[in-house]
Amino acid sequence: MTLITIDRVSRFFNDPKRKSAVKALDDISLKVGRNEFLCLLGPSGCGKSTLLNMIAGFDKPTSGTVSVGGQLVSAPGSDRGFVFQQPTLMPWLTIWENVAFHLTMRGMDKRESRDKAQRFIDMVRLTGFENHFPSELSGGMNQRVGIARALLMNPEVILMDEPFGALDEQTRMEMHGELVRIWRESQSTIVFVTHGIDESLALGTHVAVMSARPGRIRELIEVDLPRPRDPTGPQFNDYKRHILSLLRPEETLGVAA
Ligand SMILES: Nc1ncnc2c1ncn2[C@@H]1O[C@H](COP(=O)(O)OP(=O)(O)O)[C@@H](O)[C@H]1O
Ligand SMILES: [Mg+2]
Repeated sequence: MTLITIDRVSRFFNDPKRKSAVKALDDISLKVGRNEFLCLLGPSGCGKSTLLNMIAGFDKPTSGTVSVGGQLVSAPGSDRGFVFQQPTLMPWLTIWENVAFHLTMRGMDKRESRDKAQRFIDMVRLTGFENHFPSELSGGMNQRVGIARALLMNPEVILMDEPFGALDEQTRMEMHGELVRIWRESQSTIVFVTHGIDESLALGTHVAVMSARPGRIRELIEVDLPRPRDPTGPQFNDYKRHILSLLRPEETLGVAA
């Protein structure tokens, strides 16, 4: 069943210095089914964040439409949780207060929001750190707090913009395993932005490969690999080779430009 429909979306940005318009996205159409894990993969500047921001309702298409659950997206909503590249936590709040932030904002009483937060603190395996402050936790742990905060509102979709980009390789791989577990346990739908081919193949049920500016979908690939995925296996490498062949001509153009 389709949950997200992106229909013929283009996005221009004004470039006042050059008195022209930058075409960031060009006629993108894409469907994401419920419970899918879609990775948006492409080189830096191809419009991945722009597209994700439009699903979130942070930005609007110049033309075309985005809908989630049959509703046209016009603003952010609690049906869509967002995990940023940096965890954007409030340093003066404890871990549980950060996780429960949206509930407190809505006026839920402390005890109830504390109880509600606990389930998601447990889910991201931060039990025991409820009363710590963000500065006392590692980067990977803070990113887990960001995920718990997004999950708390029980969103239909979790939107993630290069959430593990700042982590070291080993922590990133650990987070991949955790995220796949969380995705299954929470039965959510995820749209995950990355420029890493390995990362997209470690995570996605689908990978949408985008081309460099103006961003277009080159191919939507269904990843039929057993989990946990073996990045050294022959099938994994077959997918990788295929994705590289899709990205390469664009990379060459990018260097020349
Ligand atoms: N607010 C903005 N104003 C002007 N140009 C923008 C804005 N946001 C993005 N762009 C341009 O749109 C293109 C795509 O950006 P972005 O979506 O951030 O790419 P990605 O996330 O794939 O790296 C880039 O050329 C970028 O400079
Ligand atoms: Mg980006």
